[in-house]
Amino acid sequence: MKHVVEWVVHAILRAVPLKSERWYWFREAVTFLPGGLGTVVRRTFYNAYFHRPGADITVVAGAYIEDPQCIDCGDRATFGRNSWISAGGGLRIGNDVGIGPGVIIHTANHNYLDANKPFFQQGHTLKPVEIEDDVWLAAGVIIVPGTRIGRGAVISAGSVISGSIEPFSLMVGFPARRIGVRGSGGSPNGLSDGTNATS
Ligand SMILES: CC(C)(COP(=O)(O)OP(=O)(O)OC[C@H]1O[C@@H](n2cnc3c(N)ncnc32)[C@H](O)[C@@H]1OP(=O)(O)O)[C@@H](O)C(=O)NCCC(=O)NCCS
Repeated sequence: MKHVVEWVVHAILRAVPLKSERWYWFREAVTFLPGGLGTVVRRTFYNAYFHRPGADITVVAGAYIEDPQCIDCGDRATFGRNSWISAGGGLRIGNDVGIGPGVIIHTANHNYLDANKPFFQQGHTLKPVEIEDDVWLAAGVIIVPGTRIGRGAVISAGSVISGSIEPFSLMVGFPARRIGVRGSGGSPNGLSDGTNATS
């Protein structure tokens, strides 16, 4: 059954050029498809356009991914409900990355420096985002353009993240601060005592 669905989606997509009017209609139709069928259709849909498709990925209903052709997607990545991924500036997602519900990732800024012109007439600067393997972006995280998140980092709910995040960091709050590190010999909640952490 899964293979039949994949075959049908691919057949439809052959007649649906990326970002054409039909593409947006088709994406809208698949975004809220329920159940197991929705899961297979969304995975097939986005993997058909990703620059690097990911095996066993999950795109939960309500997730929107803009410019999927600019995404290198790791295996087993999950895109949570109502996440919003704007990938035009380039996005690399590692293996086993969890993108929680309501997460926002942006990869381009409006240029704004000229005060004599509206910002939306000044073009964009593309700033790729990189998320390494085994990163958990909890609910409502916002990733700004140019961010790089090291392997194994955990970003707590509602944090706003920019710059470069060290591997295995636990980041909380806004502005986000590093309060601990993941480690094999950590405390019962999986954290070390954080004494090596820096803000
Ligand atoms: C990051 C997280 C996993 C840490 O949980 P934990 O290991 O149990 O850690 P604690 O709750 O003990 O929090 C440690 C400290 O960070 C603070 N903290 C935790 N999450 C925070 C947040 N989102 N914003 C600000 N501070 C936060 C706590 O207040 C605590 O501070 P304190 O030591 O001064 O009291 C958890 O806070 C979180 O954000 N979970 C997200 C759940 C979620 O989004 N699920 C959706 C599924 S993808």
